[in-house]
Amino acid sequence: MTIPLILVVAVAKNGAIGRDNQLLWRLRTDLKRFRELTMGKPMIMGRKTYQSIGKPLPGRETIVLTRDGGFAASGVHIAHSWDEAVAKGEGLAGEMGADAVAVVGGAEIYRMALPHVETIYLTEVATAPEGDAFFPPVDRTRFREVARISHPKSPDDEHPFTFIDFQRRR
Ligand SMILES: NC(=O)c1ccc[n+]([C@@H]2O[C@H](COP(=O)([O-])OP(=O)(O)OC[C@H]3O[C@@H](n4cnc5c(N)ncnc54)[C@H](OP(=O)(O)O)[C@@H]3O)[C@@H](O)[C@H]2O)c1
Repeated sequence: MTIPLILVVAVAKNGAIGRDNQLLWRLRTDLKRFRELTMGKPMIMGRKTYQSIGKPLPGRETIVLTRDGGFAASGVHIAHSWDEAVAKGEGLAGEMGADAVAVVGGAEIYRMALPHVETIYLTEVATAPEGDAFFPPVDRTRFREVARISHPKSPDDEHPFTFIDFQRRR
């Protein structure tokens, strides 16, 4: 049995997801949702995103994709190709009893993952900042919107935002 891949991303109105290897906003409610969606699961991320976070996140297993054969970091798994990352993710999910492997960015990794993911958990952030990393518009001929919840700006969240869930069409 293949374990499904889920993709978790926060995207501005203009498609921006990051700049200078940093996030573009402070949204505590979205961080909490990210934690809930990824907890107990293996996560696949690019080397740049890993370095931006700087450490493995607790309660999850981190698989870092890099082409650099010399890359080393403690407490994470390393993969040198997409297929290797997915194979490691499936193996770890089995060991952890997880029902999915989460793809958590950045832009390069999302592009590679999109043809393979079953579900997209997208946070649309109501702002349009200057970015240097982007997520493409979701292809609604391939993905169906299955849930949408809007949240206002608040002391915890510096912009209004909407959680939109997409499921691959069969
Ligand atoms: N808003 C969000 O939800 C969100 C989530 C995550 C990240 N981000 C943002 O996204 C930005 C980073 O995205 P990015 O596209 O610059 O970098 P990235 O996707 O995090 O990492 C890119 C790196 O992944 C490795 N890689 C890519 N394809 C590979 C392949 N086929 N095989 C092996 N390794 C491969 C390469 O590492 P090497 O160079 O080491 O070979 C490449 O430089 C940051 O601004 C970050 O804050 C935003």
